[in-house]
Amino acid sequence: MAFDTEKFISQAETEIKKTVGKEKAIIALSGGVDSFTAAALAAKVIPEQLFAIYVDTGFMRKNETENVKEAAKNTGVKLKVIEASEKFFSALKGVTEPEEKRKRIGELFIRIFEEEAKRDNVTFLIQGTIAPDWIESGGAGRDKIKSHHNVGGLPEKMHLKLCEPLREIYKHEVREVGKALGLPDYIFNRQPFPGPALAVRIVGEVTREKVKILQDVGAIAEEEIESAVMKEKMEMPWQYFAALLDSKAVGVRGDERAYQHIAVIRAVRSLDGMTASFSNIPYEVLQKISTRITNEVREIGRVVYDITNKPPGTIELE
Ligand code: XMP
Repeated sequence: MAFDTEKFISQAETEIKKTVGKEKAIIALSGGVDSFTAAALAAKVIPEQLFAIYVDTGFMRKNETENVKEAAKNTGVKLKVIEASEKFFSALKGVTEPEEKRKRIGELFIRIFEEEAKRDNVTFLIQGTIAPDWIESGGAGRDKIKSHHNVGGLPEKMHLKLCEPLREIYKHEVREVGKALGLPDYIFNRQPFPGPALAVRIVGEVTREKVKILQDVGAIAEEEIESAVMKEKMEMPWQYFAALLDSKAVGVRGDERAYQHIAVIRAVRSLDGMTASFSNIPYEVLQKISTRITNEVREIGRVVYDITNKPPGTIELE
């Protein structure tokens, strides 16, 4: 059955009003389409009861914080930015296991939301959780693939009540809702981005140094893929990004031996993120990406393209 956007919006508005009632709610914007759409829905029905925050975890993409501030300004969402990178890096110190990383990030997010909520007597947390998030986190008796930070990554004991108006729908439907709510094109057409951000794109321990490297690598990969799409050399992937492996490889720089990080380029076609196939990136585009990365990011000695479908891979590396 076709998705009825208007009907969904009207039902979601009723649900938010009924769930939150006269209480206050906090919403955390991650910069992605899901949280912005949830914020726009809530801002329509409970504008005076809504507090929007953005937690800068330190794991964000290059210029992400500035972009989110700008987008919030343009969409009329009043935003408070919380700088919490020190807390997040400390929480992940020495942690290499992907599920443990997700749990620690999820827990820390909630503790920060709770702190903020206490200040203003807020009792609800509105989240942009969508269907694949809870399905993959082991919802409805299914096997757990990974704990999406906003579902399985939540601590068992939390003081805020949850309101998740997008829970039953998929990314392409969220985009339709976002568009119908008047979000600008660059928000509702944004590629998906995971809540734990670059922390799940750095295999192994997350450090400030690795995040900085990945921010630079990711910006080049995104830029080159977008440019190739503009020039009609390839179709727009559903999601495209870079990741960093936990091991290094040997190479040569000038005449000298080098032992440096390995960057992974990932680009996939998908409809809803539940299954995916790797994108057909022309060799000349891969070549440009590889040359730019090794020239511009001196810590990277090798670039590989991930040719794994989902299943058996997942889209993110962790
Ligand atoms: P995977 O890696 O499971 O990802 O194939 C499917 C889609 O979900 C995104 N993703 C997340 N989104 N919180 C989110 O909000 C998370 O913890 C999370 N983990 C993965 C991923 O980017 C892809 O679009």
